[in-house]
Amino acid sequence: MKKPTSVQLSFEVTLQSDEMSGYAKLGMFGNAEVKAERLQSWVRSSVQSPVRNRGPMAKIIYIEANGKEHAVELESGTSVMEGAKRKGIAGIDAVCGGACQCATCHVYVDPGWQSRVGARTELEAAMLEFAEDVQPNSRLACQIEVSAQLEGLVVRIPESKP
Ligand code: FES
Repeated sequence: MKKPTSVQLSFEVTLQSDEMSGYAKLGMFGNAEVKAERLQSWVRSSVQSPVRNRGPMAKIIYIEANGKEHAVELESGTSVMEGAKRKGIAGIDAVCGGACQCATCHVYVDPGWQSRVGARTELEAAMLEFAEDVQPNSRLACQIEVSAQLEGLVVRIPESKP
């Protein structure tokens, strides 16, 4: 079966996403096969998000490196990264659009919340190796899904970026 080498162009044209442009600018696609694989991941996390966003709300507290605090009400199913992007919170660039491919959504989960947020996935842990100042409570905000159990979750945004 022929590999889907033309998928990237189709999605770029259809979605016209800022995140997709940033993703391409980074030159993260090494070859056509990788392009198709990463696009599928990106599309799953980006396009399907509105479908997931239908649960109860939870308030997430973002604290920028300079101490500025933002409280954002988000629907269950939204990622912590998506909430930051919607509200224009500085320091969460999310260049890959939530595909767990850039580490520019690095946050520190407040220690009291770590067990409720859960552990990093294997892919997330690998991607965090590209981030700076990684701590035991480091997570990628795109990999934290908001739920009612995370009402009041506090995440801190690091100053440095990969
Ligand atoms: S947005 Fe790229 S890894 Fe989270």
